[in-house]
Amino acid sequence: MSFLLFEGKHHASIYQKVTDIVLNYLNQKKGKPHMLAVDLGCGTGQNSRLLAPHFKEVVGIDVSESQLEEARAVSGYPNITYRKGTAEELPFPDSSVDLLTAASAAHWFDQARFLVEAARVLKPGGCMALLGYTDSFSLRYGSCDDRLNLIHAEFKKSLLPYTSTRVAVADSKLQDLYAAIPFPEKERVDCVQVSQPISVRALVGFLESFSMYQAYSRSEPQAASSLLLNTQNRLLEEMGVTSPDTEMEIHLGYFCVLASKPK
Ligand SMILES: C[S@@+](CC[C@H](N)C(=O)[O-])C[C@H]1O[C@@H](n2cnc3c(N)ncnc32)[C@H](O)[C@@H]1O
Repeated sequence: MSFLLFEGKHHASIYQKVTDIVLNYLNQKKGKPHMLAVDLGCGTGQNSRLLAPHFKEVVGIDVSESQLEEARAVSGYPNITYRKGTAEELPFPDSSVDLLTAASAAHWFDQARFLVEAARVLKPGGCMALLGYTDSFSLRYGSCDDRLNLIHAEFKKSLLPYTSTRVAVADSKLQDLYAAIPFPEKERVDCVQVSQPISVRALVGFLESFSMYQAYSRSEPQAASSLLLNTQNRLLEEMGVTSPDTEMEIHLGYFCVLASKPK
């Protein structure tokens, strides 16, 4: 999961949409000051870094030390700390957290235990924001959109045997988790649409970050790298270019589950 989809020159104007929705919700429900945000399943820290300018302190938590190492390697964010831990056992006192986020991560959590911890650590009026991808995904380049999307669909199809049941939870847009949130104030924003340029190289990095690809790679490393290379070559061929730095446009949809602890 080392691929940074929303880093770089384009993320500010695009992924910012999701961050703005979350901050507006927090402002409505709890108001300022924004002291502590905790980003659960922070991975390489891309969501944690987007939160950093808006909070006195941000803590990113992940079970994976290798993900945390990559997050810590990004300099320039003195108010973020990264800690190894789980969403089910949070190292914070009761009523101490303004915002809890999980970006493309909550489907991995033990939902009941996570919700108990969230209710414990959030301040009154504090919010949780659980983000994820919807199935709205398409690639655009000149007149070969359909063929690019077919290549993507075939890539995903070949990984079907390696799809974790947790992916079904993500695909359901966290429906059961949403229903189980014990706060009366909750809502979902189901289609935040974003488009941005992406190089073939970065797209292939994104595909490589899929959990089912990672599972395939653990089980059959050589076949997995051939699949990735073949996918890259097919994309370049359809686009009629040779450089993996060539950019196409990617269109993605997000959902966001929002909830606020009673005051
Ligand atoms: C798909 S990645 C998302 C990473 C990051 N939030 C992002 O948007 O790039 C999911 C992350 O959740 C972490 N994770 C899985 N189960 C977890 C748990 N129970 N508690 C904390 N982190 C967890 C994984 O190690 C992984 O880094």
